[in-house]
Amino acid sequence: MNQIKFKIRRYSSATDTAPYWQTFSVETEPGMTVLQGLQQIRERLDATLAWRHSCRMGVCGSCAMIINSEPQLACNTQIQNLSAQMITLEALWNFPVAKDLVPDLMPMFEKHRDIAPYLIRDGGDLPKPGESELRQSPEELNEFLQFSSCIKCGACMAACPTLANDPHFLGPMPLTATHRYNSDSRDTGFSKRKEKMDGHHSIAHCHYAAECTRVCPKGVDPARAIQLMKRDLVLDLFHFSRRSPAQPCDTCATVDHDSLKAPVFTAREKN
Ligand code: SF4
Ligand code: FES
Repeated sequence: MNQIKFKIRRYSSATDTAPYWQTFSVETEPGMTVLQGLQQIRERLDATLAWRHSCRMGVCGSCAMIINSEPQLACNTQIQNLSAQMITLEALWNFPVAKDLVPDLMPMFEKHRDIAPYLIRDGGDLPKPGESELRQSPEELNEFLQFSSCIKCGACMAACPTLANDPHFLGPMPLTATHRYNSDSRDTGFSKRKEKMDGHHSIAHCHYAAECTRVCPKGVDPARAIQLMKRDLVLDLFHFSRRSPAQPCDTCATVDHDSLKAPVFTAREKN
């Protein structure tokens, strides 16, 4: 057994006027996670400590918090891998705090709702009359597959410097969801989502810090999704869709559309 300190930023929106730090001693053993350390504190030292978790296996996304100044999943972070005698814990940055390590995620989910995060089909429900199923090729699946791994944990939102300076910025999670559906061959909702993509607090405001991609616990690349949407907006400006052959108007007929289809490098390549 090894004793280490958990230094936790505590706050209750119901009773406290300001946050404060409290330190607890935790008995650790190899393989123990930060989440298990929190459970030990609640069972042995302070039953009022609040955080959120459910699956304990990196799937539900509810235990995301700031661990030693990095947004991470508490259930997926082993204490020994932090190589520290003191672990600091805070609720996710860039969100209001409900209590202790519990952020209020409603601003993120309201933005997510606003971008229409579902398949939109011209003419109504899925599938269209006469279609028994909506088939996709492996290539079409790969267009959006990695973006569909998002578990809505909010770690990318906490890491985003643009969101830190502009609370109205849509942020990496809702923008990744936007691209996930725009790039699905079964979806025809680009024009419906375009207003959100093109708005003042949207993709043009991204400075490409790529912190979202660096911290994502599921290997999603939100920075790449945002760059791809910038490309899609330019293509749309020239009356050209990635999904259909070029149909430029007379004004745009001289544009080299193939050059607009050049691959966008990924934030992971950048880093
Ligand atoms: S993109 Fe990654 S970090 Fe952001 S909400 Fe989804 S899973 Fe979490
Ligand atoms: S408890 Fe579900 S991701 Fe950590």
